[in-house]
Amino acid sequence: MAEKEPRKISDLIRERFAEPSDIGKDRLSSGTHATQLAHRSHRHFKNTPVAEETLQLLYACALSAPSKSDLQQTAIIHLEEPVARDFIQRSIPAMPWISSAPVFLLFCGDSRRIRDVCEFHNTGFAHDPLDALVNAVADSAIVMQNFIIAAEAEGLGCCPISAVREITESLADFCALPDGVFPLAGLCVGYAEDDPAISVRLPTRVIVHKNRYDASSLADEIAEYDRRRQQKNPYRHQRQADKYGLSDNYGWSSDKARQTSTTDRISFSSHVRKHGFQL
Ligand SMILES: Cc1cc2nc3c(=O)[nH]c(=O)nc-3n(C[C@H](O)[C@H](O)[C@H](O)COP(=O)(O)O)c2cc1C
Repeated sequence: MAEKEPRKISDLIRERFAEPSDIGKDRLSSGTHATQLAHRSHRHFKNTPVAEETLQLLYACALSAPSKSDLQQTAIIHLEEPVARDFIQRSIPAMPWISSAPVFLLFCGDSRRIRDVCEFHNTGFAHDPLDALVNAVADSAIVMQNFIIAAEAEGLGCCPISAVREITESLADFCALPDGVFPLAGLCVGYAEDDPAISVRLPTRVIVHKNRYDASSLADEIAEYDRRRQQKNPYRHQRQADKYGLSDNYGWSSDKARQTSTTDRISFSSHVRKHGFQL
């Protein structure tokens, strides 16, 4: 029997974009690139606990991320006690993977710590509120993604949870978040029990522009992407069918257009305005 060809990086790129690609055809599918290309969010976990030492390793990797002006504006809350896990699951009942994950972390933007540092030095904090918010969001998002890469390299699976921003007030209260600290996303972490499909992404030519932004072929590209994606990741139900009807041609773009046609997470916006960011 002929030996099976070892998987190459180009195989992973083809799967990710559902298009032909020769990029990485001479590189074996291993290491950081392979981990990144094979990323999936996991929503079913084994009971196996994650050792504290492993978690500490992942925190160290996560916090090695670059940080805007080295301000390090992030905080991670490990919701560990049963009462905390119970609170978060009860508050977001539509996502049972929150309770199935052995670890649930809350990644927060933290503009409070640097304000304390200003106080220690009697300087006062004068950053523009929108800039301060964006800087803290950027730092914590990068830290969370660094955590995910480290966790996946360790054989763990993760699922980010932005639904925490639908319960911003009660969550901030439960976790005793001071002014200037706000939840960005939760993260389910554990040994995965599922094997979800790779989620096909928009091609690099849609996202990457040379010198000037150019969306002249966007409509055609989106139609093609819908078609490719529908073959690999078909939607099982259509959003807001009562409002928009059932479409014969429902794909990624219809789903995302319907999803973003309603206003979400108003509580987040009012929370940050009240607690540290006078936008
Ligand atoms: C900031 C952020 C928030 C997310 N929030 C949720 C969430 O609340 N619930 C959920 O099930 N998945 C959530 N996800 C996971 C996305 O749905 C997922 O990344 C996307 O569908 C692409 O799939 P993939 O991660 O498997 O490639 C979130 C992802 C990110 C980056």
